[in-house]
Amino acid sequence: MRITSALVAWQRTLGRHGLPWQQTRDPYRVWLSEIMLQQTQVTAVIPYYQKFLARFPDVTSLASAPSQEVMAHWAGLGYYARARNLHDCAQRVMQEWGGNFPADALGLATLPGIGPSTAAAIAAFCYGERSAILDGNVKRVLARYFAIDGDPTTRAVEQLLWQLARSELPTAAQLRRDPMMMTAHTQGLMDLGATVCTRSRAQCTQCPLRKGCAAFAQGRVEELPWPRAKKKLPERSTGMLIACHRGKVLLQQRPDTGIWGGLWSLPEFDAALSAKEGCNQLGISASKMQQLSAFLHVFTHYRLTIEPVLAVASSAQITVVNESKTLQTQWVPLGQLSSLGMPAPVRKLLDGLLVDQLLG
Ligand code: ADE
Repeated sequence: MRITSALVAWQRTLGRHGLPWQQTRDPYRVWLSEIMLQQTQVTAVIPYYQKFLARFPDVTSLASAPSQEVMAHWAGLGYYARARNLHDCAQRVMQEWGGNFPADALGLATLPGIGPSTAAAIAAFCYGERSAILDGNVKRVLARYFAIDGDPTTRAVEQLLWQLARSELPTAAQLRRDPMMMTAHTQGLMDLGATVCTRSRAQCTQCPLRKGCAAFAQGRVEELPWPRAKKKLPERSTGMLIACHRGKVLLQQRPDTGIWGGLWSLPEFDAALSAKEGCNQLGISASKMQQLSAFLHVFTHYRLTIEPVLAVASSAQITVVNESKTLQTQWVPLGQLSSLGMPAPVRKLLDGLLVDQLLG
């Protein structure tokens, strides 16, 4: 049984309709929402989306903005490569496409940060194009509906899921009768995956596709799709110096590439060193020092234990002695911290500290 009619009817009555990016077919707004929603939940995205649009209302304003400001509006959403690609993409749209996003999924997928599923979602929402999406939620819906065994992140299973996603699209005849069906079909897959066909405790009694669902019929909803084969992530650790001096804190800009690229972070030192040795390594002379509790931050490719040290610097002079010489380092007044793009764990650490009490 094909799924689209039941899915579309369900989306139109019980799906989500009030999300801020559903009120428009403007490719800029839809593109921005789809990039923010990659690997990030709707509730986390909404306030970022609104603030971002207030500052960068169109592709022209985004393309011409300084990258620091773009990063500052992204800080806290994570996966910062998305923000760098977003900015690059806006500039490419201005330079190569005359300020208009490409008018189909194929063209959209040539731009930085826009993979085939995101391109298809934008094309379906903005242009009603008949193109299939396949994000993590949709993989789960299809793997269950067709009872597909195997890890859906592997190439063979993924290709099978793409084929199924394409074969379940509304037909050209259906779309002629009901041109908005592509929007409802695409949003319906997303909504079903996010609200009904969830990874754990799927609500099959609420599901419009239950009658045709192979996993439901076989009692295998809980075991499908197969979980991704777990790799043990490497463990790393780093010392982070929170140096304070007269109402200012010392920050260092991360290299453009790599983790937290372009964001303002705390100077780091070798975690094997003591607090005092760490200050020495960074060329800071401190009058007071305090080791704070270590905490864990998990990246996609490794786990990082952060060991913070709070230090009151006896002068503003910095004689940075390690490789970080090449990085921009500056004293930032506490009042200006909120305007800088900072990694979420660093911001949390600074927010949680009553640094001003220790400042002389
Ligand atoms: N996840 C990815 N795209 C989405 C959208 N348009 N609405 C809700 N969740 C999404």
